[in-house]
Amino acid sequence: MDEWHFPRPELADHYLNLLELGISSSLAIIAPRRKGKTLFVLQDLAPLAQKRNYLPVYASLWQNINAPHEGLILALEEAVQTIDKRATLRRLLNAKIKKTTVSNELLGKMEVEFANAPAKANNKELAYLEQLLGELEKKAGKKTVLLLIDEVQHLSTSKVFDPLTHTLRTMLDKRQGRVKSIFTGSSRHYMNLLFNESQSPFYHFVETVPFPDLDDEFIAFLSSKLSEEHGIDAGHQALKKAFERLDHSPYWMMKIIAHMVTFKQTLPKAEEYILQLMEAAEGFATLAKKVRPVDRIVFLALCDGKNPFSRELMARIDRETDVKGVAPNIQRSIKRLSEANLISQTRKGEYHIEKPGLKRYLTRDGGAD
Ligand SMILES: Nc1ncnc2c1ncn2[C@@H]1O[C@H](COP(=O)(O)OP(=O)(O)OP(=O)(O)O)[C@@H](O)[C@H]1O
Ligand SMILES: [Mg+2]
Repeated sequence: MDEWHFPRPELADHYLNLLELGISSSLAIIAPRRKGKTLFVLQDLAPLAQKRNYLPVYASLWQNINAPHEGLILALEEAVQTIDKRATLRRLLNAKIKKTTVSNELLGKMEVEFANAPAKANNKELAYLEQLLGELEKKAGKKTVLLLIDEVQHLSTSKVFDPLTHTLRTMLDKRQGRVKSIFTGSSRHYMNLLFNESQSPFYHFVETVPFPDLDDEFIAFLSSKLSEEHGIDAGHQALKKAFERLDHSPYWMMKIIAHMVTFKQTLPKAEEYILQLMEAAEGFATLAKKVRPVDRIVFLALCDGKNPFSRELMARIDRETDVKGVAPNIQRSIKRLSEANLISQTRKGEYHIEKPGLKRYLTRDGGAD
């Protein structure tokens, strides 16, 4: 559904302006899963960057989840070859758009978020990576290489990836200004470990910038396309409400739209169907079974914006679970929830929910039991 892409040129322009201001040569865009990061980078940011004399290279560290260096190597090799063959980078980017869209269309895409057999990049591979970037930089001539590195949080999910993290930092540091980078990632917890921990090689190296949710203009775009091109009048307010219920995820919203268009379904019917699909695809049932009772109570309190250390909550944990309602147990629970990527904590100590839809599932009648 390529023609359904809602362009965000101002946002792309904003990020590129930040790079050009020169405060930092690296930006990090953080947003939860399925918020439209990858397609924004490929469809909006990369083309604009090209117009501004950059040579954008997109790499996903999940290309091979056990060996993130492979994704980088492949992307750099492809970019070098593209220039050698005098082919257009546009075609390369289009192929990545196609790949992302196709994988997003697979129903029940339950991605593995963590490596199950993490492989260390060896010295030869790391040297090759450095060599490739040097080569690309030369071939870029007057253009500035812009590395667009997706799923960057992956680097801090295993110690095994540390040598790669170090190499990457050194490669970029050496070329400050001549090679720029934009990182995207979906877990604040792991992104914080990567960018805000003093022992991380990326500490103070990267400027973190927010990725705002799609807003009313996106809804207006969908609403007018539905009515003009498909004769479906779903109503702006109704679409807006549905989008809110999906925690502003364009991924799930577009699934509703596709369902309405393909099967001529009403919005409520399509939404009902997609919510079920979401539960199945995200594996909420399995997740709910794995979550310990204390973690569940803490998670739901955080979803409601409540203080997890309140006396009331501690008393409840004491009453309803087999652990003591004391601060260290709550601390441990928060750590488990963060590591499982269900929540994250910002530097200011605020909590964020990283799993849209899970609260609804856990609190729905019988949902968790
Ligand atoms: N600007 C947009 N206009 C219309 N639909 C969009 C837009 N951005 C994203 N989508 C829809 O959301 C889906 C997911 O987008 P994308 O893969 O970019 O999200 P993501 O944040 O990278 O997700 P993940 O965390 O799974 O990598 C797309 O396949 C598309 O259907
Ligand atoms: Mg993505």
